[in-house]
Amino acid sequence: SNETTERPEKTGQGGETHQQSSDGARLTTAQGVPVSDNQNTLKAGPRGPALLEDFHFREKMFHFDHERIPERVVHARGYGARGYFETTDAIPELTSAHLLQEKGRKVPAFVRFSTVAGNKGSMDLARDARGFAVKLYTEEGNWDIVGNNIPVFFIQDAMKFPDLVHSVKEAPDRAFPQAQSAHDNFWDFISLMPEAMHMVMWTMSDRGIPRSFRFMEGFGVHTFRFVNAEGESHFVKFHWKPKQGLQSVLWDEAVKINGADPDFHRRDLWGAIQAGDFPEWELGVQVFDDAFADTFDFDVLDATKLIPEEDVPVRIIGRLVLDSVVDNFFAETEQVAFCTQNIVPGVDFTNDPLLQGRNFSYLDTQIKRLGGPNFTHIPVNAPKCPFAHFQQDGHMAMYNPAGRANYEPNSWKDGGPRADAEGGFTTYPEAIEGEKRKVRAELFADHYSQARQFYQSQTEVEQGHIADALIFELSKCEVLDIRKRVVAHLPNIDTDLAQTVSDGLGFDEMPEPDAPRRDMVEGLKP
Ligand code: HEM
Repeated sequence: SNETTERPEKTGQGGETHQQSSDGARLTTAQGVPVSDNQNTLKAGPRGPALLEDFHFREKMFHFDHERIPERVVHARGYGARGYFETTDAIPELTSAHLLQEKGRKVPAFVRFSTVAGNKGSMDLARDARGFAVKLYTEEGNWDIVGNNIPVFFIQDAMKFPDLVHSVKEAPDRAFPQAQSAHDNFWDFISLMPEAMHMVMWTMSDRGIPRSFRFMEGFGVHTFRFVNAEGESHFVKFHWKPKQGLQSVLWDEAVKINGADPDFHRRDLWGAIQAGDFPEWELGVQVFDDAFADTFDFDVLDATKLIPEEDVPVRIIGRLVLDSVVDNFFAETEQVAFCTQNIVPGVDFTNDPLLQGRNFSYLDTQIKRLGGPNFTHIPVNAPKCPFAHFQQDGHMAMYNPAGRANYEPNSWKDGGPRADAEGGFTTYPEAIEGEKRKVRAELFADHYSQARQFYQSQTEVEQGHIADALIFELSKCEVLDIRKRVVAHLPNIDTDLAQTVSDGLGFDEMPEPDAPRRDMVEGLKP
């Protein structure tokens, strides 16, 4: 067969073949030449000038000069750990995913938690959503669930994502504010984007300032599909439930912690794992069929909506345990590449227009961020199951196809891998019909009902925190009209909340309620 070169098993620096020796070893250049003096450049005479001939100095400095790679365009600040996933309840009736066929199946996992808006060096306790990205190294390939700690998203369509992110990141002229939502541009965008109000309620709630990564839930957000061996499909939503429970801090605490220890969350995760107090989450699924999906008065393809757990209970099917810190932050946490399109047989996408856009975006950005198409050769991104394909060359190619054949079909005796019509991934043959168009379906038009449900599900104390957060954040907006436009949405959610925020901002009268804006939704054009 056309075996590719064997890869190191280790997810760290590169395993046996590339492992640098450490303890007490002789210092060498990257070419392996022993170094005699690592403190002084080669000079002409005792006082210089320095000589170009000093290959050790040039190599050391050139390498240093190239140490930085672009930070992630979003979720730049993150912290990763290794662990495992174990199936606790097999669900072969729902999915043919190999991992979920039998109780007790166990695979390695890598998880990266992150803030969304801040740069790589920003503080951990910003008010923000948190990324909760999980890579499961299954026996049928890598399965990534690239989720957040909030079950819904700001926007319904990927087309809006670059604008959303521009608005939340530092303003291009002044380069502030960083890593916080107290931001004219952000609130300006939000005030014009009513579909964001549901997630705004969540980010202004205690969920926006988790006590640590260990005390957060995780959500796949989008509706995905499970497909079983008979080819039958169900819709599925993924949930990670922390065994540690759910905890947040108060804003005053967050501000203080950020000042005293901006690394609070990463220190917490590192410390807990090093102490043997391994954090654990249950994997839960909400499963429903097409007919049930049709009974909702919103579209299950709309990522600004969740499926109420009262309607579809969460069924626990597995556990995720983080039991090992990384060997090297850059090699693993910085270079790990998650992607929504990394799914395995038995799982499939839906037509959620946000998910479809994400499937395109992650691979594209990673080819740039990680310097070319070969980032799956980096141990943390490589599958841990057998793999064989004909992709070759490009920058940093380390595992080119072995032998003569690098194309298919071929007639060579040892001609390499072949597609597997029976066991390989097949797309669920969902029927597609209709005209090409840009407008969203009418069911995407209700932007406030679930925002209201969320607000009303909170205790009185928690509701107070939401009001306080809105008053604080909006009071940082310099432009009065923006404050008013945001507040004008609130009566559509809850009149008491609206009044409290309006009073808190010192408005003489409540701004006129904003008519629900129904942009580009079928039948309701602006
Ligand atoms: C990271 C795009 C929505 C969760 C990223 C990155 C991009 C991106 C380009 C950087 C990836 C990298 O450099 O490796 C998008 C687009 C979206 C979208 C275009 C909508 C159209 C979402 C949603 C979620 C999410 C809805 C949550 C369900 C994450 C997470 C990361 C991330 C967790 C960080 C992964 C890591 O830790 O490396 N996203 N995103 N994104 N995104 Fe999204």
